[in-house]
Amino acid sequence: HWTDAERDTINTFWGKIDHEEVGHQALTRVLVVYPWTQRYFSTFGNLSNATAIAGNPKVRAHGKRVLDALGDAITHLDNVSATYASLSQLHSEKLHVDPENFRLLGETLIIVLAGQFGAAFTPAIQATWQKLLAVVIAALSKQYH
Ligand code: HEM
Repeated sequence: HWTDAERDTINTFWGKIDHEEVGHQALTRVLVVYPWTQRYFSTFGNLSNATAIAGNPKVRAHGKRVLDALGDAITHLDNVSATYASLSQLHSEKLHVDPENFRLLGETLIIVLAGQFGAAFTPAIQATWQKLLAVVIAALSKQYH
C-alpha cells in the first residue's frame, strides 16, 4: 500500500535525518511534555527537569535506538508488522508501555522534524511521514491483548 512516490519521499527524507540527534530530541520532548512517561524509564537516572532530561546520556542513547528501530521499519515497508512483532511483544508484555504513548512519540517526532527542516518539511512530506508513523504505531500496538 505504498506508492513509488511515497517510498521515495520516505527514503530520501530518512537519508537526511541525524538518527541520534532527532531521536534524542523526540524522546526528550516526550519526557518533558508528557511527564507521566518518565515512569517507564526509572532506570535512566535523573529526569527531574527539562535540563536534566536533555543532558541525560541514557535518554540520548535510547533516542538513537528508537530511531534506528524506525529505520528497520523503513527498510521493511511492506512488512512492518512482522518486523516489529517481537518489539511489540516486548513493549506490551515486559515493559507494559501503554500504546497511546507510541502516538505521543510520533507527534514529538513530527515536531522535531518540522523544527529542524522548516519549510523543507513540506505538507506533502509530512503527510507521507504521518502515514509511516501510523503504520509503525499500529504494528507496535499489534501484540497487545
Ligand atoms: C525499549 C523501540 C516507543 C518505552 C525499546 C527498544 C527499542 C524500542 C528498539 C530496545 C528493545 C530491546 O531492548 O531489545 C521503540 C519504538 C518506539 C518506541 C520504535 C516508537 C516509535 C516507546 C515509548 C515508550 C517506550 C513511547 C514509553 C513512553 C521503552 C522502554 C524500553 C524500550 C521503557 C526499555 C528501555 C531500557 O530499559 O533500556 N524501545 N520504542 N518505547 N522502550 Fe520503546
